[in-house]
Amino acid sequence: MGRILLILFFISFSSGPIRCARDDGDDDRGGFVRSLDPKLLSLKEEKLSHFRIYWHDIVSGNNATSISVVPPSNKSTTGFGTINVIDDPLTLGPELSSKPVGKAQGFYTLSSQEEVGLLMSMNFAFTEGKYNGSTITVLGRNAVFNKVREMPVIGGSGLFRFARGYVQARTHTLNMKTRDAVVEYNCYVLHY
Ligand SMILES: *[C@@H]1O[C@H](CO)[C@@H](O)[C@H](O)[C@H]1NC(C)=O
Ligand SMILES: *[C@@H]1O[C@H](CO)[C@@H](O)[C@H](O)[C@H]1NC(C)=O
Ligand SMILES: *[C@@H]1O[C@H](CO)[C@@H](O)[C@H](O)[C@H]1NC(C)=O
Repeated sequence: MGRILLILFFISFSSGPIRCARDDGDDDRGGFVRSLDPKLLSLKEEKLSHFRIYWHDIVSGNNATSISVVPPSNKSTTGFGTINVIDDPLTLGPELSSKPVGKAQGFYTLSSQEEVGLLMSMNFAFTEGKYNGSTITVLGRNAVFNKVREMPVIGGSGLFRFARGYVQARTHTLNMKTRDAVVEYNCYVLHY
C-alpha cells in the first residue's frame, strides 16, 4: 500500500523518468552501488591483533627523520602552529638499531595553545614479513607529556584492510636537548 502511494507520489510530482520509486534494501543502492557478499573478498572472521613497536622521532643531526616544515606562528611556549613531516623508523625494540618493522610516514602538527598537544596523522607502513606493504592509519590527539596517549586507528590496507582500533603511546625517552624522542606504541587492531 505504502509502495503504491509512493509510486503515485512520484508519478504525480515528477516529470522526469521515475527511477527511485522501487523497493529499497535490494541490490540497487542508487544505481551505481551494489551489495557484495563478503566471501567474495575472502573476508572471514574479524580478528584482533596486538603489536608493540617503537617510534623514533629524530629531529636533530644530519639524518633527521622528522622535519619542521612550518614553524610556530608566534612565540608560543607550546610550539603552536608547527608542522613536522615524518618518515620515522619503527622498530621492535627501543633501540634504533633493533629490528626494523617499517616507517611512520605522515605529519604531526602542534595544535594546542595550552600544552604540547599534537594532531598525529600518519601511516604505519610495514616492511616486515607478511606485513610488508600493509599499512594502518593513525589519526588522533597526542598530548605528549601525558603518560599514556590514546589515538584511533582509522583504517588500513593490505592485511589490515577494514582496520579499526586504537594505539596507546608512551614516551620511552625524550632528549630535552635535541628533542629526539622514542615512543612505545601498543597497537590494538581489529581486521580480517
Ligand atoms: C647519518 O647516516 C650516515 C650514513 O648512514 C652515517 O654515516 C652518519 O654517521 C649518520 N649521522 C648521524 C649524525 O647519525
Ligand atoms: C604573539 O604573542 C604575543 C605574546 O603572547 C601577543 O602579544 C601577540 O598578539 C601575538 N601575535 C599574534 C600575531 O598572534
Ligand atoms: C618488501 O617488499 C618490497 C617490494 O615488494 C621489497 O623490495 C622488499 O625487499 C621487501 N622487504 C622485506 C624486508 O622483505
